[in-house]
Amino acid sequence: MMPSLSERARLLREQLQEHNYRYYVLNDPAISDREFDAMLEELQELERQYPELVTIDSPTQRVGSDLSNEFPTIPHARPMLSLANTYSEEDAREFDRRVREGLGEEPFEYVAELKIDGVAVSLVYEEGLFVRGVTRGNGEQGDEITQNLRTIQSLPLRVRDVEVDGVPLRNFEVRGEVYMNVEAFNAMNRERESRGEKTFANPRNSTAGSLKMLDSKLVAERPLNIFLYYLWTDDVRLQSHHENLDLLSQLGFAVNPNAERCRTIDQVLSYWQIWGERRESLPYEIDGVVVKVDSLAQQEELGQIAKSPRWAMAWKFETWSARTKLNDITIQVGRSGRVTPVAELEPVFLAGSTVSRATLHNADFIAELDVRIGDTVEIEKGGDVIPKVNQVVLEDRSPQAEPYHFPTICPCPVESTLVRPEEEVNYFCVHAECPWQLRGRIEHFASRGAMDIEGLGEKVVDQFVTLGWLADFADIYELHKRRDEIAALERWGDKSVENLLAGIEQSKDRLLWQLIFGLGIRHVGSSVARLLARRFGSIDKLAEATAEELEEIDEIGPHIAGSIVNYFSEEKNRQRIERLRDAGVRTEDPQVEAPALNLSNEFFVDKTFVLTGTLAHFTRDEAAAEIEKRGGKTSSSVSKKTDYILAGEKAGSKLEKGVKLGVAIIDEDEFTRQLQGGSEEESGQLSMLG
Ligand code: IVH
Repeated sequence: MMPSLSERARLLREQLQEHNYRYYVLNDPAISDREFDAMLEELQELERQYPELVTIDSPTQRVGSDLSNEFPTIPHARPMLSLANTYSEEDAREFDRRVREGLGEEPFEYVAELKIDGVAVSLVYEEGLFVRGVTRGNGEQGDEITQNLRTIQSLPLRVRDVEVDGVPLRNFEVRGEVYMNVEAFNAMNRERESRGEKTFANPRNSTAGSLKMLDSKLVAERPLNIFLYYLWTDDVRLQSHHENLDLLSQLGFAVNPNAERCRTIDQVLSYWQIWGERRESLPYEIDGVVVKVDSLAQQEELGQIAKSPRWAMAWKFETWSARTKLNDITIQVGRSGRVTPVAELEPVFLAGSTVSRATLHNADFIAELDVRIGDTVEIEKGGDVIPKVNQVVLEDRSPQAEPYHFPTICPCPVESTLVRPEEEVNYFCVHAECPWQLRGRIEHFASRGAMDIEGLGEKVVDQFVTLGWLADFADIYELHKRRDEIAALERWGDKSVENLLAGIEQSKDRLLWQLIFGLGIRHVGSSVARLLARRFGSIDKLAEATAEELEEIDEIGPHIAGSIVNYFSEEKNRQRIERLRDAGVRTEDPQVEAPALNLSNEFFVDKTFVLTGTLAHFTRDEAAAEIEKRGGKTSSSVSKKTDYILAGEKAGSKLEKGVKLGVAIIDEDEFTRQLQGGSEEESGQLSMLG
């Protein structure tokens, strides 16, 4: 092999590493995605031809391999201690008192940091290269998960050159917390749900599960991230924690930017309070703050008791989890017939409200927790405000408590048999006439994201179903025949009936995707509904589509396609749609009647747009429709993949993020010009960074 090839590979590695760092750690990319991908492909190709060029720090090694990992147990060079916890100011002050006493009135400082709610890991670097990553395990030894950790894009496989007093820092151990951003976690869960896969209870569980997966290729698909907060080395003399955090940054690690040096305990207490209030504004979950004595010499002086250091403490946020008794487990039947077990709890006050119910997800979740009626459970309110059962307090379990058996008969009035289809985590009530499903389906049809019928919320649906006025969502369009009956109901009057009927009338004119979504076809969420509307343009064309035709759409696999074909093969569903059409509900999008897509304007073809702010001449849906007509896509979040941000008045964080990522930004004038065919010379782009 020619030496220039290995030189080329080295250069590519270095450059890719630099761009990765700018993108994932600094949030400040210098080149486009396309350029990055081209370089990565070149390196991959080189390494494919000359496998001897592959190095362990090559960016190509992040994608993971198909080889099954086994996780050997490895001892930590220094034990991974855990922290003493508290929720009370009294304990916090007591901690400070002990520190002062331990240091015999020497001056000292604290560093206060966010306590990231993730999974702790230890990473070993030799000669600047990431060689080994280990879970905390029991503190003395943990599982080696190097290959999985390599998939975390913000983790440097080779560190940057850093010297302390002229001595290079090359061999060291760092520790930190692997976590997932809440938004990425939710997106992942939604995706899994739409594929009928098991969803995760929270970002931390999902992170822990991801790190323990055997196939690192699958790990690479999980949105994992890491913050580092600890450095140990024999290479150079380390002085203080805050300097260590600085060194970690210089080495190229992601360090949480919110750490603060504090001179007094009161400063730390106010840090604790402020972040307790602000925690929801963060993109990731934190469960408290960590307070550390800054000087490493003083840390040593203070030492540790049992397994916790005397120089650090976790001050957790209150009220987000609570213990209470599980009185019963009931089950809820959703519109698809899916059965969700619900924990009926002894009411307990948690983060501003009284909680008496919490989700138990599904039968597997109950089995895994082995939660039993009568148990004391810990419940938690996450960022999404739906309370969850976190764990069972086993010490409080009564010897009489019996394992829970998932019911096989639906407690609904028709008492149908519950079935669990193969490869499903959920049980289903498959009875077509189940009134619980019915109510759910009508509520969904009328809901905001679907047909958006004003005045027809859950309570009204419930009332009308009970009265027998609604047995199907198509009945909604016959409610006008009951004008007087409705007006005669308690808390109803002429005015509110008028409003309801007007809301129903308006809903006849919704976009096709809203109708498709409203039908409640299994696995067809709003984004799939949009794809279908765009491709087929009318309900009739969609109803005729074969599974093969449906699968031609990128995002649609056999699962979703099968469910759609199945839906339209049922006579009663076809009749339902006829009834809607007869009532005057629009079943096609007008513009798609013309030639399907106009792909002549390259500005739009295959481009991804994010719309933000208010436009003067378009609603967002209209602007999106114009883009889609021309072969472009819209997305709700800004990422590397975004081609343009269309920024209207009062554009906020999306615009900011776009600027950071170097996405091209256009205003409404430029957009309008491009719709009309565009003009190369006269560009009204606000900025074209990157
Ligand atoms: S310091 C001896 N700092 O909280 C010091 N821990 O028991 C050990 N954690 O296992 C940890 N954010 O998983 C430290 N900024 C932070 C942290 C943090 C989260 C976790 C870590 C540790 C647990 C405390």
